[in-house]
Amino acid sequence: MDRIPEQLIERFARARRVLVITGAGISAESGISTFRGPGGYWRQMNPMALASPAGFEHDPALVWEWYLERRAQIRQAAPNAGHRALAALEARVRDLLVVTQNVDGLHQRAGSQNVIEIHGSLWRTRCTLTGLEYEEGEVKVEGGPLPPLSPAGALLRPAVVWFGEMLDPRPIRRIEEFLRIPPDLALVVGTTAAFGYITDWALAVKRRGALLVEINPEPTGLTPLADYHLRGEAGDLLLHLVPSEYREETCDLSTG
Ligand code: OAD
Repeated sequence: MDRIPEQLIERFARARRVLVITGAGISAESGISTFRGPGGYWRQMNPMALASPAGFEHDPALVWEWYLERRAQIRQAAPNAGHRALAALEARVRDLLVVTQNVDGLHQRAGSQNVIEIHGSLWRTRCTLTGLEYEEGEVKVEGGPLPPLSPAGALLRPAVVWFGEMLDPRPIRRIEEFLRIPPDLALVVGTTAAFGYITDWALAVKRRGALLVEINPEPTGLTPLADYHLRGEAGDLLLHLVPSEYREETCDLSTG
């Protein structure tokens, strides 16, 4: 883990409005696979077969098997110190928004309130006929025949964004609204920043005066643009960055 410069710890302590962008790397310490790193999903599986409209049309049961396996794995997992440090930070700064590419729901389980899931959620489903969305448990998708059907009798699909699909404009509007008042700190954690919109949001806030901090054991496309690149695991680094007086008021961040 990189040593954290003292002035950065001070900037965290003074931060009032914070944009956090997270990716699969923040959940890695909870035992959830990333996509592109060593052992990542896309190193072993074909994303077009499992995470694209064409793949779903070709074999919806196979796609569902993969999503249900991921649900089972995530149910067994717990939020880690990184998720919980961000929840603790949110509880103390004036405004903090987590924009996550993750569909696992671990930020919310750690206590983060202001979370935008730009790639959707593994726990929601959508009817391919009506477009209606259902929360976990509202319609039966587990323990029955695959692929599951909606109340309208059409195929249900996971309410996630697949390759080749547009992002939902509603969360994008919420992000743009948040960015109207410039954040003083932008934190990009555990993402290869493979999608242009991630870099765009990070740069938009940097241009308006925010300090851009990247946390990732590896360099990414965003690294040359960041004010600080802290190399290491998100849990360790966030535990040191979030002021200790914040953390002491919340649960023990170093375990679980
Ligand atoms: P990736 O798998 O592309 O990247 C994970 C990043 O996390 C890498 O840069 C790793 O170096 C870093 N990382 C690994 N362990 C870490 C740790 N303990 N702490 C901090 N960082 C760590 O995942 P994403 O960038 O999230 O989309 O991928 C973005 C999207 O691509 C996903 O949402 C998914 C995928 O295809 C869809 O399925 C639509």
